[in-house]
Amino acid sequence: MSTDHLNIEVMLHPVPERLTPSTPTPYVNSMEQYQKLYKESITHPTLFWGKLAKDMLHWHKPFETVVSGGFLEGDVTWFAEGELNATYNCVDRHAKENPDKIAIIYEADEPDQSRYISYGVLLRDVCRLANTLKSLGLKKGDTVAIYLPMVPEAVVAFLACARLGIIHSVVFAGFSAEALRDRIQDASSRLVITADEGRRGGKTIHTKKIVDTAVKECPTVEHVLVFRRTGSEIPFKAPYDLWWHEELEKHRPYCVPEVMNSEDPLFLLYTSGSTGKPKGILHTTAGYLLGAAATFKYVFDYHPNDIFGCMADIGWITGHTYIVYGPLCNGATTVLFESTPVYPTPSRYWQIVDKHKITQFYTAPTAIRLLRRHGREHVEGYDLSSLRVIGTVGEPINPEAWEWYYEVVGKKKCAIVDTYWQTETGAAIISPLPGAIPTKPGSATLPFFGIEPVVLDPITGQELKSNNVEGVLAVKKPWPSLARTIYNNHHRYLDTYLSQYKGYYFTGDSVGRDKDGYYWIRGRVDDVINVAGHRLSTAEIESALITHESVAEAAVIGVKDDLTTNAIHAFTTLKPRFADTTDEKDLILQVRKVIGPFAAPKKIYIVNDLPKTRSGKIMRRILRKISEKEEDQLGDLSTLSDPSIIPTLIEKVRNS
Ligand code: WT7
Repeated sequence: MSTDHLNIEVMLHPVPERLTPSTPTPYVNSMEQYQKLYKESITHPTLFWGKLAKDMLHWHKPFETVVSGGFLEGDVTWFAEGELNATYNCVDRHAKENPDKIAIIYEADEPDQSRYISYGVLLRDVCRLANTLKSLGLKKGDTVAIYLPMVPEAVVAFLACARLGIIHSVVFAGFSAEALRDRIQDASSRLVITADEGRRGGKTIHTKKIVDTAVKECPTVEHVLVFRRTGSEIPFKAPYDLWWHEELEKHRPYCVPEVMNSEDPLFLLYTSGSTGKPKGILHTTAGYLLGAAATFKYVFDYHPNDIFGCMADIGWITGHTYIVYGPLCNGATTVLFESTPVYPTPSRYWQIVDKHKITQFYTAPTAIRLLRRHGREHVEGYDLSSLRVIGTVGEPINPEAWEWYYEVVGKKKCAIVDTYWQTETGAAIISPLPGAIPTKPGSATLPFFGIEPVVLDPITGQELKSNNVEGVLAVKKPWPSLARTIYNNHHRYLDTYLSQYKGYYFTGDSVGRDKDGYYWIRGRVDDVINVAGHRLSTAEIESALITHESVAEAAVIGVKDDLTTNAIHAFTTLKPRFADTTDEKDLILQVRKVIGPFAAPKKIYIVNDLPKTRSGKIMRRILRKISEKEEDQLGDLSTLSDPSIIPTLIEKVRNS
């Protein structure tokens, strides 16, 4: 397929005003400079990454080998002999130099409850918690589950683990007890760090109760450490349950950082794949930290004194990289936002940009689309002149939303960075550099330094080398922040990412490269669906439905949606004896219970039969066409075992 139909010249946005000389000069100043640096990074990766690693990170012991291994064997290592500590890099060195500089601005759910945490205070809190973890017998290589709302203590928890070489496994606080249990079990976590309750959008989340349910079936958990967020009465069983404030008080505010090898694990983060079982993506210390720090600096053109606001949740990779590790490794001030874009009003984002004088603002396309619907009057009246770079991540941004962001939020003076990356890549891999790369709405533009994207023919696996091509997106050579393995399942890592197209890292996305070499991400080619920037697997939702006693079969599909990119629709058949006692609501509850509220299907249809091939495979393609009301495009039905069920399905969807 060609991309000629896109009138690209018209859409090209030049480098905007706030990135020209009146503000700090962008690190990369022109397309020519980007191209020169990019070329060097690809032709001499060892020189390029070696220098960056020396410049950006503090090493306890220098590395000798920059990179070894490759995608063929799946044995990549970076900075092999080097020794460092991620927390030392993110906190100590800044606390020494500038203890009063604000590390974290905590913007609480209620707008009047902001807190400011300096690097000096952060270091002391991190050390107290690290000493607490030590006193509980935790040590390097153990895993700890973090199930916390968006409070500064979450950042303290990440960094206290990293200080001791404990592998943190953060579970997004929107996951249900069962999902949390599965992740604790898979990682054999010894401790869970949580809160009494959470607050979001004026509502209370019963965080500790969810943990109580989860840990009932987690024999590896020795303690639950509870941060007091709301102070409400909660079930508490000492000495299994411990209060954060009581434990931290017992310990001195300094703790020697554990010296880690570059390739020692830093954290695990579970993400959805094509099968029902989530994967524990494992990132290592030096490579991940360098990727986070370098992309933070260049993609957002971070300069000292900037205030960086990433609106994501720390439970996802975006929060790990661009709320915690990227900003703190650069000694930046990072905003931690506990609420939602519409609480108490749809002006909340702009209120906090104004209040904290945010210079870089980063959110998801779905939030932009939502706010665009609410109308520009919610943006007006706030001073957004501090902004220089405004970013998006998580899904393709449609040109209408892009233009709204550009004009209404950025006043045509800010650079938009549409950053493409994944949990696995650790940091942005395709993105504009503000000040250098002209943008096109809907395109993540060009690769970051050191990243060599390729478009492959999905069938033959051949590299499509010219421009104006469509195919699947892979990366040709290793780069530091790529995940090294799936926890306890290296075989699955090889299968998923490295075996499908030998010698390449396969992203699972389809892509177009236009005549200017710009990349346009089209979406997933596997059974992963993107709902409002959340990554979900159809198989995972199907298996949640099937565990309901009355469900016989389930088929889950992603259906195009204006607001959320995809919406989840599910078709189920029931076991005959439950046919009269189960309704759609029960099944939605089931998904909320097994995975979490954010995975609940938007539509659920209880039907008598699902369309299947003669060999019994469910034909999801047909269900998708019916759900998108494109019944005239059902395509080839000759392999269906019983075509007579189609009209009933169409009627069911039409009447819903
Ligand atoms: C998938 C990864 C990376 C942090 C958030 C999501 C999609 C991500 C973009 C973008 C188009 C994007 C891809 C990718 N995606 N960013 N800028 N344009 N699509 O991380 O949960 O690991 O999901 O999100 O499909 O594979 P994740």
